[in-house]
Amino acid sequence: MGRLDDRVAIVTGAGRGIGAATAKLFAAEGASVVVNDVDPEPAEAVVAEITADGGTAALSLDNAVAMEGAAALVAGAVEGFGKLDILVNNAGITRDKMFHTMTEDIWNFVLDVNLRTAFHATRAAVDHMRGAAKTEISSGGAPAYHRKITFTSSTAGLQGNPGQSNYATAKMGLIGLTRTLSAEFGQFHINVNAVAPGFIETRLTASKEQSSDPDLGIPEGIRNLAMMMIPLGYAGQPEDVAKAHLYLASSDSDYVSGQTLVVAGGLFRY
Ligand SMILES: NC(=O)c1ccc[n+]([C@@H]2O[C@H](COP(=O)([O-])OP(=O)(O)OC[C@H]3O[C@@H](n4cnc5c(N)ncnc54)[C@H](O)[C@@H]3O)[C@@H](O)[C@H]2O)c1
Repeated sequence: MGRLDDRVAIVTGAGRGIGAATAKLFAAEGASVVVNDVDPEPAEAVVAEITADGGTAALSLDNAVAMEGAAALVAGAVEGFGKLDILVNNAGITRDKMFHTMTEDIWNFVLDVNLRTAFHATRAAVDHMRGAAKTEISSGGAPAYHRKITFTSSTAGLQGNPGQSNYATAKMGLIGLTRTLSAEFGQFHINVNAVAPGFIETRLTASKEQSSDPDLGIPEGIRNLAMMMIPLGYAGQPEDVAKAHLYLASSDSDYVSGQTLVVAGGLFRY
């Protein structure tokens, strides 16, 4: 028996890194998963891998930066799998610049991908989640089970990070959403939580000097410094964060809402 048997989940930014690991783990735990990404090739590969392993997955290339994209994403999940129980708002991107060189384009792009997608996808999803819970309340007195919304924030959103004013602002915004929506949706047993990863090995934290994409990555010196500060002594893997999303998406966390779970090897303590 899986921890997400009979559940339908959407994971945004699921073509790579943390989102891909989360989609695969959810499918292995029995969920039907909508793999959403704007990059077709890696997202198709994730769907193929889940299917080859005996899981259930569907591809979505909708871009939730626009409300219509989010509406299409959620409609696709509900039409394809009959309902929606779990939304993982994970899509994210960096465009690092010290604030005195920050441009409006980069500011808007990073806020759009990290924060606006989450607003739109959650706004579209909650109609279905509330609707289902309300029907259950009117026939049985309580929602049949807890539905779950999670966000991938960042330790940068909790403590700030030089060169990431745009990213830290978006990630702190996700924590504001987490706390507010947990209070609004509690009566429908829709739990809302965030994970805040620290240094996780993906293309966002790859060495800038060795990266094929000059817009992404971290200078080697900063990487080494960050690594030295992690009490556990090593960088996290996408699977480490996927397990935190799984906990928050499963019934194990039914009495946990409005929280931000730091997954950072002890790097950030509060
Ligand atoms: N890697 C880390 O150390 C770290 C730390 C803290 C937080 N995070 C957050 O974790 C999340 C995943 O990051 P990652 O490190 O796995 O990065 P990644 O680049 O490996 O994966 C992110 C995926 O999101 C996709 N994406 C971009 N824009 C999108 C959009 N509009 N809609 C749907 N998908 C979109 C990308 O195509 C990519 O496949 C992000 O929100 C990131 O900010 C990462």
